[in-house]
Amino acid sequence: MRAMVYEGPGQRRLAEVPDPQITDDADVIVRVDATTICGTDLHILAGDVPAVRPGRVLGHEAVGTVEDLGSAVHTMSPGDRVLVPCISVCGACRYCREGHAGQCMGGGGWVLGHTIDGTQAEFVRVPFADTSTYRLPDGVSDEDALMLADVLPTGYEVGVLKAGVGPGDVVAVVGTGPVGLAAIAGARLFSPGHIIAIDHADLRLDAAKQFGADVVVNNAVSDPLSIVRELTDRLGADVAIEAVGQPDTFELAVNLGRPGARIANIGVHGKPAALHLEDQWIRDITVTTGLVDTFSTPTLLRLVASGQLDAAKFVTHRFGFGDFEEAYEVFSRAADTGAIKVVLNT
Ligand SMILES: NC(=O)c1ccc[n+]([C@@H]2O[C@H](COP(=O)([O-])OP(=O)(O)OC[C@H]3O[C@@H](n4cnc5c(N)ncnc54)[C@H](O)[C@@H]3O)[C@@H](O)[C@H]2O)c1
Ligand SMILES: [Zn+2]
Ligand SMILES: [Zn+2]
Repeated sequence: MRAMVYEGPGQRRLAEVPDPQITDDADVIVRVDATTICGTDLHILAGDVPAVRPGRVLGHEAVGTVEDLGSAVHTMSPGDRVLVPCISVCGACRYCREGHAGQCMGGGGWVLGHTIDGTQAEFVRVPFADTSTYRLPDGVSDEDALMLADVLPTGYEVGVLKAGVGPGDVVAVVGTGPVGLAAIAGARLFSPGHIIAIDHADLRLDAAKQFGADVVVNNAVSDPLSIVRELTDRLGADVAIEAVGQPDTFELAVNLGRPGARIANIGVHGKPAALHLEDQWIRDITVTTGLVDTFSTPTLLRLVASGQLDAAKFVTHRFGFGDFEEAYEVFSRAADTGAIKVVLNT
């Protein structure tokens, strides 16, 4: 089969690799119908995630069709259309039982496209199929469902829920790539007072407006700190969400918060980022961070199916599987191309 293979920092290749095989009774093999590229894949290619070894098939998001299943899989049959989320759930360990499958100790967690071969391929082996995948209702399209594999739960769980966004809150979102946009869409569900979106790419800020930001700030030309202070009687934001993964944007997110603010880091960081306790210790802030668990997927699936969340808005570009190189080019030059999520159909 064809697959997008990581070959070391800065190097990737659409290569011919062996088809995946069932190696455990709880596995399924899914024929990938639609997959996409994540900001985290760009971090991997930048060398920020050294656990990904050369030769690994990239990708941790897919919608596909069950092709083959292990003898212990009970809840699906060949031909079923399923969502393959970024997190695999062993279902038995302490973390999985507590809804924190991102930290799974039983062989799950973020494994796809990380420590086992991923979804940017014509076929993928998905471990713990019964507890990890979701059968999709007819009313939800492949593209809509694909947004539930990572970006929507990540923005919602690691951003909105961890920060405890509530009615009337002033929410600053630093970085309006797909994950930041998902945080904006998720925050909207809680009737915030104002959402302030900050990015240095104007095309991404245009998207932020469409996703529900009230104010957008290009921090390459304007000072977001003074704009947030102006909007909040000099106090600062109730909530700041970091969705970039750079030291300066993390520091910015912390500085944007008022005393007592909740700061939620979503970004994957490859370099040390400073938390200036010498300034912050007295300000009663709460800083959270984490890997998505995908416990919210059933809720988000219902919100998408009922039209409360518009997942289709994320998809800006579509490619055939043979055009994977071009899809990476377009996604990694999002500031020029306006790409949010690029969808690849096999
Ligand atoms: N914690 C998790 O579980 C989890 C899951 C998925 C993704 N992520 C991470 O979330 C982050 C966002 O993901 P994405 O797919 O939206 O990535 P992305 O690269 O598409 O988006 C990042 C955005 O940040 C903006 N940006 C970059 N530098 C900036 C700066 N100095 N000031 C302002 N804006 C800046 C870019 O213009 C872009 O719009 C990444 O770090 C990704 O690895 C984390
Ligand atoms: Zn991801
Ligand atoms: Zn587990």
